[in-house]
Amino acid sequence: TGKIGVLTGGGDCPGLNAAIRAVVRSGIAHGYEVIGIRNGWQGLIANDIFPLSDHLVSGIISWGGTILGTSRTDPVKNPDDIAALKRALDEQGIGALVVIGGNGTLSAAKEVAEKGVHLVGIPKTIDNDVFGTDVTIGFDTAVAIVTEAIDRLHTTAESHHRIMILEVMGRRSGRLALAAGMAGGADQILVPEIQVLMNEVCSSLEARSRVGKKFSIVVVAEGTRHEDIAGTVVPACDRDECGHEKFVGIGNFLGKELERRLSIETRVTVLGHVQRGGSPTAHDRILATRLGIAAVEQIHTGSFGCMVGMQEGRIVQVPLESVAGRSQGVDPKVYEEAMNVAGITEHK
Ligand code: F6P
Repeated sequence: TGKIGVLTGGGDCPGLNAAIRAVVRSGIAHGYEVIGIRNGWQGLIANDIFPLSDHLVSGIISWGGTILGTSRTDPVKNPDDIAALKRALDEQGIGALVVIGGNGTLSAAKEVAEKGVHLVGIPKTIDNDVFGTDVTIGFDTAVAIVTEAIDRLHTTAESHHRIMILEVMGRRSGRLALAAGMAGGADQILVPEIQVLMNEVCSSLEARSRVGKKFSIVVVAEGTRHEDIAGTVVPACDRDECGHEKFVGIGNFLGKELERRLSIETRVTVLGHVQRGGSPTAHDRILATRLGIAAVEQIHTGSFGCMVGMQEGRIVQVPLESVAGRSQGVDPKVYEEAMNVAGITEHK
């Protein structure tokens, strides 16, 4: 028997505990001791670990967050950190790691694996932007949360005849904004991958007014660039009363611009970390459970340096070299589909 360590790195999301539970349960079933590492790479560097047991993971499948804690510590930034984490693994007799993370954590995992550490990655992020898997743990839950937010904005938008802007997470990818925007029936969806100019946004919202629809819902991914929408470089900073630079998020920028150009009352909601909280959906629990089991099986067969993912409904193994440093964006076809049924269809 050997020891398997498990860590969660980067931003948390619903479904991490379901994955940890599956790793522990299937690890034990394969005859391993499973060791929890606190707060991602940070805990491994600091040797901050504790044994996990069947009992400790009982009932956690429905919990949000991660019982292990997480951090954005990147061991690749400091060679001493890699040496420290290798020392910790040796001292503890941990022969292999399950690394549950998004693009940052999995890119670091690739480097750590190249330094001789046996590990297998599991993809998680509400952004769903990890290359090599159709879907990541946490995405389905976040889509459900954002869709519910859009539904709720709809009723108040309609009552007040307002434009409601919803800024959704996603620094580099608009996949969450697109999926939820489509599910919530948003009238306009703005994402970092596809340029839509303010004039086009305005004319699509004006077309709605012309046919008597006095409200609109605009979903925008936080990573959408101001200049892409405005069509010219605009400063992302305002000044507060004391003259200090004040970052203006894309949602607020868009709100001001639309109100100014269309003279329709506009309100902005920045949904923030609500999108990452709470209990995972059934889909995320199942995905996390299956990927947790697959990661342990991968370790058991002695094939390391890969990520387990899901492609076309099947579990796949993808080498970390092809995952690291890449990201997955919005499918232009799906974007087009969403926009085809959004707003108002005018006879050609
Ligand atoms: O990568 C996941 C994510 O939720 C992004 O969508 C978001 O931009 C970022 O993390 C927020 O990070 P933090 O919780 O560290 O502020």
